[in-house]
Amino acid sequence: MTFLKVQGIYKTHRSGLRGKVEVLKGVSFDVEEGEFFVILGPSGCGKSTLLNLIAGLEKPDKGEIILKGRVVSSPRVCVPPHERDLSMVFQSYALYPHMTVYGNMEFPLKMAKVNKKEREKRIREVAELLRISHLLNSKPSELSGGERQRVALGRALVKRPSLILMDEPLSNIDASLKQEMRLEIKRIQRETGTTFLYVTHDQIEAMALADKLMIMREGRVEQIGEPLEVYKDPKTPFVAGFLGFPPMNVVSRKVFLKDGKPYIKLGNWEYPVEGPEGEEIVIGIRPEYISLRKGKSFVITSVERIGNETFVYLEGDGVRLVAKEKGGHATEGGKVDIAVYKFKIFL
Ligand SMILES: Nc1ncnc2c1ncn2[C@@H]1O[C@H](COP(=O)(O)OP(=O)(O)OP(=O)(O)O)[C@@H](O)[C@H]1O
Ligand SMILES: [Mg+2]
Repeated sequence: MTFLKVQGIYKTHRSGLRGKVEVLKGVSFDVEEGEFFVILGPSGCGKSTLLNLIAGLEKPDKGEIILKGRVVSSPRVCVPPHERDLSMVFQSYALYPHMTVYGNMEFPLKMAKVNKKEREKRIREVAELLRISHLLNSKPSELSGGERQRVALGRALVKRPSLILMDEPLSNIDASLKQEMRLEIKRIQRETGTTFLYVTHDQIEAMALADKLMIMREGRVEQIGEPLEVYKDPKTPFVAGFLGFPPMNVVSRKVFLKDGKPYIKLGNWEYPVEGPEGEEIVIGIRPEYISLRKGKSFVITSVERIGNETFVYLEGDGVRLVAKEKGGHATEGGKVDIAVYKFKIFL
């Protein structure tokens, strides 16, 4: 049995000024038990709406959500959140400010009528797992962002739900702590075997955490797969332009004939293709597969030196590109041509 099945979900929000906003347009996917499932997509694509529907905070207009074989959401059914055997960690940690860390973690257990002794046992266990045992008597205002985050996660874990939903939990945290928290979350997920459904717009976070990755765009699913598979073989130009650091260059070229044979070209670089003259071909080129040559087709508009890598931004022949070099001598304002080692054609 599939652990979580989301089937053909449609959702329209009605807002005073904007009228009807169709936020989800037929979203379907499956999550297996024990999986770390990450939903990645740009701001406004409907990620939080989707999570709220799974949590039971809203109802879909069309479609079904089936959790462990039971329909929990449909236009007619809405099983209340506390009956769904799940916890949600919100982007704003939403800790109770007047309660201690212990009190915050105890609250959901009290609501679930777990007895005092069991409550204490679970809180101590989870606190140890999260390395926050020394903070149990502190108030949220006395904690750092990362510590608060761990408390929010602890509050979700003490309930021992079979599914944890997390909505951009690390977006307010600085880069180095973010990395640490990422490892922590992954470790906890492995140790507890809990199924995680994790929403983010940070591709590095998504790649690092996911067993399964789903890319969303404007209320629709673009691609689902293992993160490296999606990275290596993006099915659409959108996915290609979203993953990678920096992401793939996606450009459209017209087929032209040379000695009667079809080619595409970018600056001075030419490549034989198949297709009739004049056809537009969309290609994706990873920045690392572009190398700079002497020439005049492109102007170097900026250069970013990031440790041992250099990102070189180019403009010319009607496109903008970014190339990635090790070291390199590129200077702003200089002119170059390119060679492309490898590229992908989108059909
Ligand atoms: N209650 C609402 N009423 C009207 N429109 C809404 C409502 N909630 C969300 N929307 C709109 O629905 C779209 C999707 O919102 P949602 O919060 O799901 O996006 P998101 O992918 O979580 O974005 P972000 O990454 O910025 O959190 C947005 O265009 C948003 O403005
Ligand atoms: Mg959101």
